[in-house]
Amino acid sequence: MTRARFTLRRATVADAPAMWDIRAEAIRVTCRSRYPEAMLARWAATPMPGTIVANIERGYFTAGILESSIAGFAAINVAAAEIEALFVAPAYSGLGLGQQLLAHLERAAIRKRMPRLELNSSLNAVTFYQAHGYHAGEPTSYTNSIGIEVACVRMEKRLGGAKHRSA
Ligand SMILES: CC(C)(COP(=O)(O)OP(=O)(O)OC[C@H]1O[C@@H](n2cnc3c(N)ncnc32)[C@H](O)[C@@H]1OP(=O)(O)O)[C@@H](O)C(=O)NCCC(=O)NCCS
Repeated sequence: MTRARFTLRRATVADAPAMWDIRAEAIRVTCRSRYPEAMLARWAATPMPGTIVANIERGYFTAGILESSIAGFAAINVAAAEIEALFVAPAYSGLGLGQQLLAHLERAAIRKRMPRLELNSSLNAVTFYQAHGYHAGEPTSYTNSIGIEVACVRMEKRLGGAKHRSA
């Protein structure tokens, strides 16, 4: 793989529209292999929910930058110890950004003393997460902000850096 030189920075509320566009593009293009076309179109066209502002302020959002543009982003829901989002714009896929963002989230989770990270993986990304040490659990689904049901797989990785002591 040819790796590009992405820099990472904290994403802010001002980045929300750019991140939402990347999410829509990634759904339309990258998720296409595993979801029905009609559902993909409706899923990708979901309007940006107002709750995204609170999510960015409360959560841990990171943007991957190349030549001053956001090429992808990732987020942890800190309270739930879950990966909430990981999207790379199709134009930048396969250049190492997804892996760089995932490693960054895992380091942040370890710093925050999370013993594990869980997520609902889209069907197309299950093998990506498995290749990075995540175990696939039960098939599940979530219902998005406009009621679209998205099939996914529950996944989990124990984080080596967290110290545990039984009481
Ligand atoms: C999944 C996603 C984030 C990967 O991002 P990316 O930048 O294209 O991936 P990278 O270039 O960092 O790939 C890193 C490694 O994973 C591998 N990989 C990437 N996508 C993969 C996939 N779907 N299945 C298996 N391996 C995959 C790459 O080949 C590469 O392997 P290498 O290091 O041995 O060469 C991106 O495809 C995406 O945004 N998908 C659509 C949105 C989505 O499904 N997100 C997950 C929601 S939970």
